[in-house]
Amino acid sequence: MKTVCVITGGGSGMGLEAAKCMPKEKILVISGRTLKKLEGAVEELKALGYEAYAKPCDTSNRDSVKELVSFSASLGEIKNVINSAGVSPAMKGTPEGILQINALGMVYVNQEFSKVMNPGSVIVDVSSNSAYVLPSFLINKKAYALAETDEEAFLKKLVKKSSLAKGEYERKGFAYALSKNFVVWYAKKCAFEYGKRGIRVVSLSPGLIATDMGNLEKKDGGMLIQFSAEERMGRPEELGFALATVADERNGYLAGVDVLCDGGSTNGMKEFKKKK
Ligand SMILES: NC(=O)c1ccc[n+]([C@@H]2O[C@H](COP(=O)([O-])OP(=O)(O)OC[C@H]3O[C@@H](n4cnc5c(N)ncnc54)[C@H](OP(=O)(O)O)[C@@H]3O)[C@@H](O)[C@H]2O)c1
Repeated sequence: MKTVCVITGGGSGMGLEAAKCMPKEKILVISGRTLKKLEGAVEELKALGYEAYAKPCDTSNRDSVKELVSFSASLGEIKNVINSAGVSPAMKGTPEGILQINALGMVYVNQEFSKVMNPGSVIVDVSSNSAYVLPSFLINKKAYALAETDEEAFLKKLVKKSSLAKGEYERKGFAYALSKNFVVWYAKKCAFEYGKRGIRVVSLSPGLIATDMGNLEKKDGGMLIQFSAEERMGRPEELGFALATVADERNGYLAGVDVLCDGGSTNGMKEFKKKK
């Protein structure tokens, strides 16, 4: 039977670049909210020799994720899930909206896909190096645990933390960083839960990458670039390769960790702060 790789947020950016690095014998399911974007991505992938399908899905809606799972499972055995769907502070929306998509959306993706996945399969959740820059008083693991039991209380607590920032962009920035800190925490939790069934879970945290999203965030969120080893943004294809490598079955012992792929910027900033 052919195996299937599902990429949420695969219509653009690093998700689409990851698709281009997957082995050609896999069936690719490219997902996101905008059908036109997905169709363009699928056309590109077909021209490269892939069997690829566009399937719209809003990951912040559990029923929509369930539909994506059953569509993907109807094509073959789901072996790889790369969860790259996400929104960022400079986009339209609210702190709550950011948390609903980046954090609760991830819960739906991990929970619903893991139900049909077999030993030897993998889920890679995309976080961000902004997960590492949060002041520790904002991180509340008890509140994170509510994501599985009481979504309303989860959102309320994290939105309240975000509201400590001054200014609209900053509040959305806190919500984004919290949502991505949650991704790292939850991926680790899932790794130990699903690991018993032979399903590997890993998160990957990119630094600032020159995708549509990254270019939008560069003006207000670009302060980390100067701390990266090469003093530059990452390229989408570099992150695509990193994601595809982490999602490769041959990387079978990589689980329960966050892969920080940020050109060294988080460590560069830490060193800079130490010297100050
Ligand atoms: N670029 C960076 O600098 C950077 C840095 C750190 C982390 N990241 C993370 O990397 C991931 C990929 O981002 P990217 O840089 O490749 O940007 P991108 O090109 O904007 O990709 C994000 C994709 O997610 C999709 N999406 C957004 N909300 C969705 C939802 N509710 N359901 C399903 N799909 C949704 C978008 O398509 P639709 O709008 O059509 O749904 C889009 O194709 C994101 O999780 C982002 O937070 C990016």
